[in-house]
Amino acid sequence: MIGKHLIELERVESTNAFAAEMIQTKQVAQGTVVWAHDQYGGRGQNNNRWISEPGMNLTFSIILHPRFLTPDRQFLLNKAISLGILDYVRRYCIMHPVSCIKWPNDIYLDNRKLGGILISHRIMSPFLDSSIIGIGININQEVFLPGLPNPVSLKQVTGRDTDLRMALSDVCSRIGDRYSSLEKGDEAIETDYREALLGYGVWREYRAGEIRFEGRLEGVDALGRLLIKTRAKGSMAFNHKEIEIIL
Ligand code: BTN
Repeated sequence: MIGKHLIELERVESTNAFAAEMIQTKQVAQGTVVWAHDQYGGRGQNNNRWISEPGMNLTFSIILHPRFLTPDRQFLLNKAISLGILDYVRRYCIMHPVSCIKWPNDIYLDNRKLGGILISHRIMSPFLDSSIIGIGININQEVFLPGLPNPVSLKQVTGRDTDLRMALSDVCSRIGDRYSSLEKGDEAIETDYREALLGYGVWREYRAGEIRFEGRLEGVDALGRLLIKTRAKGSMAFNHKEIEIIL
């Protein structure tokens, strides 16, 4: 059960770094959550920082032992976690159904970034041994630093304050459900993820380096590459950072 073991910290550099130290020094129970009210060195994707107003948002890491997944199938974990967060957002924002996953695993609400995920794995051949799933979700913050790319919080969209402890428990429970489905080999993870992707099935503009082109997002392959049908070259696969969806 995710969050049954909860380590709650007032202030830490990064919950991901804290979790990484934990798994290096001891056995850590499946589903242990490290939750911080304030991170002074929060990490984001591509070596960016994750900046979050202290006490206003969720910043936490989950430690999992997905010993049923081989490294070549690791992207399935990204899918399950993204869907778990999206399930939470969709239940919470019933009046605001415009939420989706921006590949590979950003959570978007009303076309802006509500949350992000940073995952690292330790491999013990032939399976993943431990994974640290770092999650940041903007909850009650109302003003963001200028220059942050396109942020939004639940509060900005719903007008309501959310109790962080309750939100943590709800989101962990949704993630736990998706993780159990993944473990059981439920194919809904694949179809739900595909259908939740921003731009799925519609022709829209993308940019790869300097080139802008029209494409239709068809899904993601086993390696987690984005599959786009193009008018000129048929289906193409892109790695993270090779392609950008034009919002
Ligand atoms: C992204 O760039 O979209 C990923 C952001 C992940 C941020 C979370 S906050 C909790 C955990 N600890 C970190 O240092 N980063 C992740």
